[in-house]
Amino acid sequence: MTETARRNTGVGGVEGGVGLTALMVAAARAIETHRHDSLAQDGFAEHFVRAAPASADWPVRLRQVPDGDANPLWGRFARYFGLRTRVLDDFLLRSVHTGGARQVVLFGAGLDSRAFRLDWPPGCVLFEIDREGVLAFKHGVLEGLSAVPRTTRVPIAVDLRADWVTALTGAGFDPGAPSVWLAEGLLFYLPVIAERYLMETVDRLSAGGSALAFEVKLEKDLMAYRDSPLYTSTKHQLGIDLLGLFSGEPRPDSAGELTDRGWSASVHTPFEFTHRHGRGPLPEENDALAGNRWVFADKPRS
Ligand SMILES: C[S@@+](CC[C@H](N)C(=O)[O-])C[C@H]1O[C@@H](n2cnc3c(N)ncnc32)[C@H](O)[C@@H]1O
Repeated sequence: MTETARRNTGVGGVEGGVGLTALMVAAARAIETHRHDSLAQDGFAEHFVRAAPASADWPVRLRQVPDGDANPLWGRFARYFGLRTRVLDDFLLRSVHTGGARQVVLFGAGLDSRAFRLDWPPGCVLFEIDREGVLAFKHGVLEGLSAVPRTTRVPIAVDLRADWVTALTGAGFDPGAPSVWLAEGLLFYLPVIAERYLMETVDRLSAGGSALAFEVKLEKDLMAYRDSPLYTSTKHQLGIDLLGLFSGEPRPDSAGELTDRGWSASVHTPFEFTHRHGRGPLPEENDALAGNRWVFADKPRS
């Protein structure tokens, strides 16, 4: 078993390990939701945060953060997650409304509530893949809220380091129809072999006209940023050691490999979208976001 696998298998729910990062992103989305200039609205996020003992006392409004926007975690990092949510909301909606795909696969879905909050066209199916403990927690909170999805939602409890294809196709995914795939805040936690398998499989299961978005970190040496305000504040305020959770292996060039397989891919810094939307993080010294890229890829119709 690799070091990453060992680190990530210890706790399967949201109470620790990589599952806790889903609560961190949910708290960031809750804060974003209540900003006067918010880029994305997620009314479910604060309910997830309040429901888990591990996060029950985390802030869900910026006014609950003593140093407000100056706080590296709940200010700048939360704005990063708010921007990412908005950009990927737009990607998914564009892909289904304009591109015509009707099946959506969310890898490492965590506490993503898009099935409940976005405007999906008729006939869509959203497959949410995450580990069993995370999806069970999510189910309990949503059921407590009597939340009703705005499309067909199919949670799939499976570990992405295992054979997830059987679970996905067994749940009704149709490789003959165009699809849209999303790996948001996920790949850097996976061993390289699992990322490669994911990309190869997405290609194999994607009909022409499919689209994929994913987030990568390009730093050659992640540890170069170990003293950055984002990593240290996340560790000290939440007890989440992101660098300890990330796979330390050199990452593959997934965008390049998709291009070699005939996809067209574009690679963007988050800062480009900060400029486009007029808010979000900008580059700074010793920046843990320096290597983050958002990749958008399309498989041509044959
Ligand atoms: C940072 S959270 C992101 C969640 C969601 N995509 C979002 O942006 O709100 C990372 C998610 O990836 C999931 N994850 C990490 N490793 C996984 C694995 N091996 N198999 C399935 N899910 C995994 C975690 O359980 C967690 O929910």
